[in-house]
Amino acid sequence: MSTPVKKVPIHLQSSQNRLLIKNGTVVNEEDVTEEDIYIEDGIIKQMGNNLIIPGGTRVIDARGKYILPGGIDPHTHLDFEFMGTRTVDNFYSGTKAAIAGGTTMIIDFVFPKKGESLLDAYYEYRQKADGKACCDYAFHVCLSHWSEQVKRDMEILTKEHGVNSFKMFMAYDFMLNDSELYSAFEQCQNLGAIAQVHAENGSIIAKNAQRLLARGITGPEGHEMSRPEEVEAEAVNRACVIAKQVNCPLYVVHVMSKSATEALYSHSGSTKVFGETLAAALGTDGSHYRHECFQHSAGHVLSPPLRPDPSTPLALMNYLAQDVLQLIGSDNCTFNKAQKEMGKNNFTKIPNGVNGLEDRMSVVWEKGVQTGIISPSRFVAITSTNAAKIFNLYPRKGCIAVGSDADIVIWNAGATRTISAQTHHQAVDFNIFEGMTCHGVAEYVIVSGRVCLDDGQLRVVEGYGHFVDTPVFAPFVYNPDEMDSLKPIKINDVNDFDLMEKTHKIKLV
Ligand code: URP
Ligand code: ZN
Ligand code: ZN
Ligand code: ZN
Repeated sequence: MSTPVKKVPIHLQSSQNRLLIKNGTVVNEEDVTEEDIYIEDGIIKQMGNNLIIPGGTRVIDARGKYILPGGIDPHTHLDFEFMGTRTVDNFYSGTKAAIAGGTTMIIDFVFPKKGESLLDAYYEYRQKADGKACCDYAFHVCLSHWSEQVKRDMEILTKEHGVNSFKMFMAYDFMLNDSELYSAFEQCQNLGAIAQVHAENGSIIAKNAQRLLARGITGPEGHEMSRPEEVEAEAVNRACVIAKQVNCPLYVVHVMSKSATEALYSHSGSTKVFGETLAAALGTDGSHYRHECFQHSAGHVLSPPLRPDPSTPLALMNYLAQDVLQLIGSDNCTFNKAQKEMGKNNFTKIPNGVNGLEDRMSVVWEKGVQTGIISPSRFVAITSTNAAKIFNLYPRKGCIAVGSDADIVIWNAGATRTISAQTHHQAVDFNIFEGMTCHGVAEYVIVSGRVCLDDGQLRVVEGYGHFVDTPVFAPFVYNPDEMDSLKPIKINDVNDFDLMEKTHKIKLV
């Protein structure tokens, strides 16, 4: 077991440590303003009009463009060993692609093998990511089994390693039973952490799969047939009931269906619940499992599956608009066509997972803002701010405000791009959004003050990203009344540093 590499930041070379973004429309979750933004050493130092700026500052003219907080993808699997193989995207290729699409932070899942210590797995993931990731990252930690040791490791991870979220599985052969879920949720609550669940009834799925295979249904359509909506909705309901018993805030990852969302929503009055859906669920659907070409249909296999009900993507977008669902991840977990072939004769052996890290922002803009279902501010909330709040990164991340990290996207809503595996930056050889033309293109992406996408040119630096601690007892989750004191306030008077330090609870240097 080795300790994580402590990286020396490759930081901000002289020409890049000062940046002024002028004339753009700044979109935050709560307001839209016309302001200039001055950045120094990776932090937003001034906002307003007629700012007084030091000579030699680089100026980007953002006239006619939106300026958005960088996307935060709360659900990725990079360099992940799963179902007998390993994802093709690692922390370099994955975060490079993320930046190309306007995402400036990811939260990946540490995945201990069954029986492996959570701490060992955490150190392993730090080694996979440290020195590789091009943007900041944090970790959720999965519980692939339950024991007293796991309980102790959870405490150490929260107290010493900046982890505030744990994912439990209700499906796969490493799923926890109800009594283990109860104990795990109880421990999350004690620690001030967030419990996350993969909600599908694993026992029903295993029986269904056996029956389908026995009937000769071996292709990717069997994947969806073995995991119908009610199997997802039942598990969501059960997870909410268990969380309620121990008063534990619950975050349901990858909510993929209308009925699962309804099950979640039915508990929202009595339990603190959050629902995340996926770019995949908005941008494509389960009809692809019936595609005659194995590589095409297997390329869409993830769990829970895409739904054949064609009204699902629009319904999920509306749930995001109404705050029935709060955020959108990618669940990026990419396998090449050759890896998907592992399940050629048996759908249960197709490695589960799809792309989305690069395209999440464009897909949500196209399906949400371009259609008029959500405003640009709501777009910011579901792609960035809500993740920052839930995982206690706000207001350092998730907003454009004085004192926040300069993770910023200059977004051209008038431009379009057509998604394709031929042109994407991910390592994977398939794209579930192939051929989709999206309005909304990231033109500049600023990561901790560094211009990493520069007028469409990708200029990332391997290892530039840092691990970011997620402290427990996020006010948004555990004490919403405290949120008002965190709200960034508008300060055009740049000298009022005392006030900024107070409101942001951080030291400005
Ligand atoms: O199919 C999926 N979702 N693959 C990644 C693992 C998980 O359950 O999130
Ligand atoms: Zn999952
Ligand atoms: Zn094909
Ligand atoms: Zn996942």
